[in-house]
Amino acid sequence: MNKNKIFIACDTTSTKRINSILKYTKSSKLKIGYKFGLEFLNSKNGRGFIKKLKNQITFGDFKFSDIPNTCSSAIKSVSDLKFDYITIHINSGFEALREAKKAAGKTKLIGVTILTSLDNKAIKEIGFSKNIKELVLHQAKLATKAKLDAIVCSAQEAKIVKKVFKKEIITPGIRFSSKINDQKRTLSPKQAYRNGADWLVIGRDITKGNIKKNVQTLIDHLNQ
Ligand code: C5P
Repeated sequence: MNKNKIFIACDTTSTKRINSILKYTKSSKLKIGYKFGLEFLNSKNGRGFIKKLKNQITFGDFKFSDIPNTCSSAIKSVSDLKFDYITIHINSGFEALREAKKAAGKTKLIGVTILTSLDNKAIKEIGFSKNIKELVLHQAKLATKAKLDAIVCSAQEAKIVKKVFKKEIITPGIRFSSKINDQKRTLSPKQAYRNGADWLVIGRDITKGNIKKNVQTLIDHLNQ
């Protein structure tokens, strides 16, 4: 049977904590990858740590969002880190996505749709007139046109995204504890897979507190 695939969000500046995350999330029951986001990537020791990391599935969550030339140059400038996956905001526009895809080479380029920390009220506040579902569907079509390798959306939209985007679907905003924190569009791991997610991104529910115990709670939840 195929293992459930999880990216652990390593959101910390402490390499010591990251080593604990790597150590205590090893599991024969799950396929685990590690996501490094803006906090770690911009920390003093982040780059050097990742450069030395071997034999892991790695995801550089840079969330690039800029003009085409800057996006593609930035992607080339991190190519030495040999990430398996990196992210760009679909909001950067079609041309930036196309140039970024060319620059990414073997690294899979993931398009980020509307952040899972936003709800319809927040979207309206920014100035969008479509609702989140419509916007995400629209962006998923653009990701297909730009031949991106994967998409990030909330698990609540995974079903509709699947209709127009045929590659990997990665869903953050996953909760199996009662703490929602700053996330708005959340679902449980089981519901997310049921909706068609290929990979889940899980941060705080695993990395806060006792990591090993949290991983077991997740496995129990998936086996229920
Ligand atoms: O701790 P939590 O599980 O909420 O972490 C979610 C992770 O996924 C964070 O690293 C966050 O940056 C990332 N992410 C997200 N929503 C997106 C894209 C990425 O929460 N739309």
